[in-house]
Amino acid sequence: MRLAIPGVEILDQTLLPRREEWLRLETVSAMREAIAELRVRGAPLLGICGAAGMALAGEERGTGEADLRTAAEELAATRPTAVELSWGVQAALEAALAGPDDPGARRGRLWRFAGAHMERRAREDLALGRYGAGLLTPGAGVLTHCNTGALATGGIGTALGVIRVAHREGRLGHCYATETRPLLQGARLTAWELARAGIPASLLPDTAAAALIASGRVQAVITGADRIAMNGDSANKIGTYGLAVVAARHEVPFYIAAPRTTIDPECGSGKQIPIEFRAAGEVGGFGNQRWSPEGLGAYNPAVDVTPGELISAIITEAGVARGPYYQSLPELLAQP
Ligand code: MRU
Repeated sequence: MRLAIPGVEILDQTLLPRREEWLRLETVSAMREAIAELRVRGAPLLGICGAAGMALAGEERGTGEADLRTAAEELAATRPTAVELSWGVQAALEAALAGPDDPGARRGRLWRFAGAHMERRAREDLALGRYGAGLLTPGAGVLTHCNTGALATGGIGTALGVIRVAHREGRLGHCYATETRPLLQGARLTAWELARAGIPASLLPDTAAAALIASGRVQAVITGADRIAMNGDSANKIGTYGLAVVAARHEVPFYIAAPRTTIDPECGSGKQIPIEFRAAGEVGGFGNQRWSPEGLGAYNPAVDVTPGELISAIITEAGVARGPYYQSLPELLAQP
């Protein structure tokens, strides 16, 4: 994401890795379309998109409080699970309303907030990456799921940021990346990032993950999160729960890596996390290609919830939390 005032530019992730195409967005509805179609995606980047979307609202619709509040509701409702999106929108709204109500001043505060939030993400990714890499045994095989890299945060990434730092420090043995059906964030996006970074890696079908873990090649599983409840239950890309169950079965540590803004103080347990369901067509085909009969239904949740008891640690920019999470997460959130 690049701020190009009075618009923003995004790398269209639906076209990767075949084409690198930047799109210019100038309206709230264009930003909502980009989020809904996963042109931009990944919880931390969605937070940035929420903040930038509010800056677009200020340009397009004016800076009156009622208009900004309406735009905030529309943007936050675009994808339900990633709490960062509504966090970014809300924080930007508060920044806009926190000073003089002169339109130019409000627009300035919205753009400055979006820029500062992007810088914060990059800074926090680095800190998180260092904490996470410190948990890995030298030469570890690390399995990750979905895409949690630069494409998902604008910085070095969360789980993939840990893998990048471990590689730089010479601690990483090998990275295993799931393809991540149905939209192939692993096969298209994580594989693209790993290849560009020169990290030794193998791609696997999601269905091979249990056999891979059972083979003893994996010493840690690390994923990101879309929302973390106060008891540690963590929502993330569909398939994450299965990875955590298999990791526990084979006594392999399972880590969640996410900024503290992914922890939702309003959410006591995973049961309260809204689950995003997506269109059947995403399972029965890809892009313009169809391989299942038209009209067939599908069970297509975008996320699942991993119970906190299966999570060995939650890695953040402010340190590492371990269970019981109802004690460690409030402590983590209370830190400056
Ligand atoms: O549907 P997506 O591609 O937005 O899903 C992304 C994930 O599940 C990520 O693991 C999560 O958002 C964290 S990204 C650092």
